[in-house]
Amino acid sequence: MIFSLKGKTAIITGGGSGIGKAIAATFAKQGAHVCILDFNVDNGRATVSEIEKTKGSASFYQCDVANQEQMEGVFSEISKNHRIAILVNNAGIAHVGNIENTNVEDLDRLYNVNIKGVYNGMKAAIPYFKKQKGGVIVNMASIASWVGIDDRFAYSMTKGAVLTMSYSVAKDYVNDGIRCNTISPARVHTPFVDGFIEKNYPDNQAEMFENLSKTQPIGRMGKPEEIANLALYLCSDEASFITGTDFPIDGGFIKLNG
Ligand SMILES: NC(=O)c1ccc[n+]([C@@H]2O[C@H](COP(=O)([O-])OP(=O)(O)OC[C@H]3O[C@@H](n4cnc5c(N)ncnc54)[C@H](O)[C@@H]3O)[C@@H](O)[C@H]2O)c1
Repeated sequence: MIFSLKGKTAIITGGGSGIGKAIAATFAKQGAHVCILDFNVDNGRATVSEIEKTKGSASFYQCDVANQEQMEGVFSEISKNHRIAILVNNAGIAHVGNIENTNVEDLDRLYNVNIKGVYNGMKAAIPYFKKQKGGVIVNMASIASWVGIDDRFAYSMTKGAVLTMSYSVAKDYVNDGIRCNTISPARVHTPFVDGFIEKNYPDNQAEMFENLSKTQPIGRMGKPEEIANLALYLCSDEASFITGTDFPIDGGFIKLNG
């Protein structure tokens, strides 16, 4: 089977919702044992039971990606019974605001999850990958890593860092058989987007949804499954020649707007 993950264990952070949930389901369908790391227990467990209903294999670990000790502990626990082959650092949080209305607490919060969380994941995984002479990392960046998005000061900072941290890791570990790439989605319809619209535009949610859809030249938002299929390709052996690269998946957002 092409794009098979049979016999591989994949760790997916933020696998309880949205893009991470779709990645977990897709990887499990392709034969991987999926380890979902999320701080939301209900969502994490629900994803596991959905995967098990379709005869997939999954387990849930509650953990805050920003907490290094917790992350190291979970990786160590998983490694006792599994050879970790794949890490997808997907957990992330959003923030709306320009520099003037971004306070230092907002900046730290975004840094802790979106940057330090990715650092913690890679830092925990690399010793295992080095020892076994191989491993694949996919980090979730964003079109905000590429182009200016208005009112996204802190979020853009973090997604720029995800991109450059990934280039650095790809280069430093290329001789250890470790591949590291990023995915940069434009707007994808997930609870992350619904929550954002609800919080920031409570009085005109439908209009905002329409506007956000139209910012992609293709005229709609992406689907979590579309991002999951790209993640599957990048984590499969079919992508064994790909490292140190970013993959926009954006309905034409970066190149066709303006
Ligand atoms: N949805 C989009 O439009 C979009 C676009 C570009 C990039 N992204 C990125 O894709 C990723 C996933 O986004 P989504 O839309 O699926 O979001 P989502 O909010 O639907 O899911 C994110 C998941 O991460 C978990 N999470 C958040 N902080 C965590 C922490 N500290 N520790 C452990 N788990 C944590 C949440 O509980 C949730 O299950 C994020 O990194 C986001 O920045 C999303």
